[in-house]
Amino acid sequence: MSQNERKKIIFSGIQPTGVFTLGNYLGAIKNWRELQDDYNCIFSVVDLHAITVRQDSAELRKRILDSVALLLACGIDPEKSILFVQSQNPAHAELSWVLSCYTQFGELSRMTQFKDKSAKHADNINAGLFTYPVLMAADILLYKTDMVPVGIDQKQHLELARNIAERFNNIYGNVFTVPEPYIPKVSAKIMSLSDPTKKMSKSDDNQNAYITLLDDKDTIIRKFKRAVTDSDTTVCYKEGKDGINNLMSIYSAVSGKSFSEIEKEFEGKGYGDFKLAVGECVADNLAPIREEFIKLSSDKAYLTEICKNGAEMAQRFSKRTLEKVYHKVGFAKF
Ligand code: TYM
Repeated sequence: MSQNERKKIIFSGIQPTGVFTLGNYLGAIKNWRELQDDYNCIFSVVDLHAITVRQDSAELRKRILDSVALLLACGIDPEKSILFVQSQNPAHAELSWVLSCYTQFGELSRMTQFKDKSAKHADNINAGLFTYPVLMAADILLYKTDMVPVGIDQKQHLELARNIAERFNNIYGNVFTVPEPYIPKVSAKIMSLSDPTKKMSKSDDNQNAYITLLDDKDTIIRKFKRAVTDSDTTVCYKEGKDGINNLMSIYSAVSGKSFSEIEKEFEGKGYGDFKLAVGECVADNLAPIREEFIKLSSDKAYLTEICKNGAEMAQRFSKRTLEKVYHKVGFAKF
């Protein structure tokens, strides 16, 4: 890239609603780390999003700082990227309000994640859960983001953000950059280990369904050994073999091996050998992250400093977009 060319801008976020899973890592965070050298990256721990589901306040406060520590442990480098906590930049909530007036009720009603989450939390279908994708659009559009690295479950939200941006630009001229999704090929949707038709999720009630980035080696191997597969015996990627397909995607993403290389490696061997190999490979990959997290998470002063600096930079970066939007919609400045 030439010196004069503007580096493209990347934005992405993650909710501090639990310890990050292998799905979060392979679908998003691993890409975030890799993109840092070539792009202007902004990453956020999105606590405003987290309260769309009821949280324990003390627990949430702890998880926010732990999430920052875990992102650092995964290799997010505050020298290269802006890392901040969403609620520490008020511009997100402010832009979200404006954008909600340019988003249709019908559009939000079609969001599959809203339907899923309202089924799961039937006793708390709050307005925030419904307008959540508008806040996500605000997160992205505030920073003139070119690309958003996410797993496939966020694709529909991203399409909505694009539609909102285009709609606003059609009325007011070129205010927002229309963002593109950046979705990995093999690991865009890592599935649950206990039900491979469902997405692996950090808020699953069954702890055996997911691997967290802080699980130790024995736990990881035990969870993979228990992973639901099928009654066949050959390790191959084929329709109908959801469990094995998922394990192959994980193994491929972590080891860099192609599906055909994996099929060859396990020719004539059973599922037991395969599951053990996947477990060991994942455990070896996650071990340095876990060690780094243990070091970092006890250093409150350092983490606080990172959050303060990150929030200041995020505020500075987003100020101009918000001012422009306020001016365009007709707010007076005194
Ligand atoms: P969240 O916190 O659910 O997940 C964070 C990131 O991890 C990806 N991911 C997965 N990828 C592959 N397989 C899985 N099983 C898996 N589970 C999660 C998600 O796709 C996501 O990239 N709404 C977002 C957070 C957000 C955001 C944003 C993202 C808020 N504002 C702006 C991008 C841009 C969410 O709930 O992610």
